[in-house]
Amino acid sequence: MNETILVLDFGGQYKELIARSVRSSGVYSRIMPGSLSANEIRALNPIGIILTGGPDSVYDGKAIKCDKQLFELGIPIFGICYGMQLMCHCLGGEVKQGDIGEYGNVTVMPADGSKPFQSLMSHRDVVARVPEGFCVTAHSENHIAAMECAEKKLYGVQFHPETSHTEGGAEIIKRFLYDVCGAKGDYCLDNYIEKETARIREQAKKSRVLLGLSGGVDSSVCAALLSRAIPNQLTCVFVDHGFMRQNEGDEIEQVFSKRKLNFIRVNAKERFLKRLEGIVEPEQKRKIIGEEFVRVFEEEAVKLKNIPFLAQGTIYPDIVESGGATGAVIKSHHNVGGLPDTLAFSHVLEPLSGLFKDEVRVIGRKLGLPKALVERQPFPGPGLAIRIAGEVTDGKLEVLKQGDAIVREEIGKLKKRPDQYFALLTDTFSVGVKGDARTYDPVIAVRAVVTSDFMTCEYAELPHKVLSKISARIMGEVAGVSRVVYDITDKPPATIEWE
Ligand code: XMP
Repeated sequence: MNETILVLDFGGQYKELIARSVRSSGVYSRIMPGSLSANEIRALNPIGIILTGGPDSVYDGKAIKCDKQLFELGIPIFGICYGMQLMCHCLGGEVKQGDIGEYGNVTVMPADGSKPFQSLMSHRDVVARVPEGFCVTAHSENHIAAMECAEKKLYGVQFHPETSHTEGGAEIIKRFLYDVCGAKGDYCLDNYIEKETARIREQAKKSRVLLGLSGGVDSSVCAALLSRAIPNQLTCVFVDHGFMRQNEGDEIEQVFSKRKLNFIRVNAKERFLKRLEGIVEPEQKRKIIGEEFVRVFEEEAVKLKNIPFLAQGTIYPDIVESGGATGAVIKSHHNVGGLPDTLAFSHVLEPLSGLFKDEVRVIGRKLGLPKALVERQPFPGPGLAIRIAGEVTDGKLEVLKQGDAIVREEIGKLKKRPDQYFALLTDTFSVGVKGDARTYDPVIAVRAVVTSDFMTCEYAELPHKVLSKISARIMGEVAGVSRVVYDITDKPPATIEWE
């Protein structure tokens, strides 16, 4: 067992960032509901606790509160934003709505006279008076920015050290882990593969295991791990719905058919296209693809007979976001690879369910998967079908695949690349002229975004030269496109995908 930091969640949007920054500092972290009782917390035996931010006001009756006994456990506690306000409120200090909210970049001035630093803040409520025994350790221009009671190892900050926008934020978290909690730093992924291999063998024993392989990072790493642990018991089914990017289905087949995992590719494009005939509404497309995927997978499972174990590439954020860790549903973990409970398997194996995405990538590299596969950008389960506005047809798919390959190739040449970039086929038609002849064809849109969490993003400021090259190449190489436009919308208010 690794030493553990408990991240108690009060609905903060950055809880995963907190948990990840703890792990990247060498200490294991788990996200749990903020309402956990002091006894439950004690039973988990954490070396420290971090209270997350959250949207509530501590004096609102409906706010998520913590068990006040928590502060009597003798375990070091670090409250962030709402977490600091909650600590203050529970221990007899005063929290109130500030005259001025602080949102965005705010300068923090430490009370010990050390150098002021920039931080990210996002709050309206403020700590007006710290509890007895506490001292103020930093101010912003308007408010208390940090407090502590070193004797009881209780610390609070109003800003967000877990985001990269706070200068020295990672250092602050490390100081809590190592100087306050006395962490040994015993968490690393070096032995993960060995440990998980042993665990998979112990769970599966001699039974056969079926994995739905989508070709995404998570299920690919899961396949590689399982093939190492139980090479002769594994069967992987890759349902190719035909909406993968150019050559992607073949690449997945090439990589995995070489490994010992009884790789089965089911080419199901025709039946998916048939089901999507006449469908233009995005949610309906997603639903139909999800249903059809399950149907195809089920048919394959029936053909294979008597496989008791279903393996899934579920990762920790899937569980957190489905409310599994904290009870708060953000979005349910369901995509084209998310299989329903109704499938007749008696056991489920989820060997990556404790890992964050960046950790899954580390494991993938250690298992020798190709870089291109391990570092693959997020790709929606329903694939290109939701990057084609309107009805999905074979012809439109071909146009988009070619355009998208050009976009990814050209942007991929940049030294500093955006975090996600791709092409979309719109249902807007426009007039053009090619070789002196009038054309009337659809518009391709290019989307490229900068983001670290994929929950918010800014559109990437791509060099005009790159945009011009993309446009010239698409117009020259892809038949049936009238012009190329660049999407310059952030998220929010837009989303990354168009559908
Ligand atoms: P949106 O469009 O909601 O996308 O801003 C946020 C991120 O999620 C990806 N995405 C999906 N990933 N299944 C997935 O596994 C899906 O159905 C899905 N839809 C969107 C999207 O590419 C972006 O990175």
